[in-house]
Amino acid sequence: MSPRAVVVGPPGSGKSTVGRLLAERLGVGFRDTDDDIVKRAGKSISEIFTDDGEPAFRALEEETVAVALAEHAGVLAVGGGAVLSERTRGRLAGHTVVFLNVGMAEGVRRTGVSSARPLLAGVNPRATYKALLDARLPIYREVATVEIGTDELIPADVAAAIEERLREAGGVEAAQHERGA
Ligand SMILES: Nc1ncnc2c1ncn2[C@@H]1O[C@H](COP(=O)(O)OP(=O)(O)O)[C@@H](O)[C@H]1O
Ligand SMILES: [Mg+2]
Repeated sequence: MSPRAVVVGPPGSGKSTVGRLLAERLGVGFRDTDDDIVKRAGKSISEIFTDDGEPAFRALEEETVAVALAEHAGVLAVGGGAVLSERTRGRLAGHTVVFLNVGMAEGVRRTGVSSARPLLAGVNPRATYKALLDARLPIYREVATVEIGTDELIPADVAAAIEERLREAGGVEAAQHERGA
């Protein structure tokens, strides 16, 4: 079993919000590895960072993503930093992976009101967010099969755009199949 689409992107790119809407559009289930981690650990992601440290969180995340990729057939949102793991990037190969891109200003605006994002809790959220985007952009692009810029779109329109791109991609695959490619 393989997810219909795996959604990746930086914090605030809309993985949870858009992922859920996309699942509704496609008539499939939605799963979010951040929620899986909270369930497994029995505490919030902030608490895991504080109590156990980021390496422990990343190890738990790696395992959680592997399980979800194997089990879930619907839309799967994967935690923003999960792609930092080389093993996870390897596991994403061959999947339909949607990268939700967002610029710094909009990303900071969307994450600004949240205290539940430990990586952005520092003294200068703008600089922190910019550093995170710069470091991760090539990695998101490496794992993604589809990229959508979300800065100017409301979540419902992002979901619609993804569905269209997935249909195009499916059409191309079907055409290749017909030609015996
Ligand atoms: N395309 C969008 N336009 C405006 N606001 C958005 C968009 N996508 C997400 N948001 C808002 O930004 C915040 C973070 O979205 P969320 O789905 O939690 O991001 P992620 O799961 O990628 O961290 C939420 O308040 C959400 O409603
Ligand atoms: Mg999320």
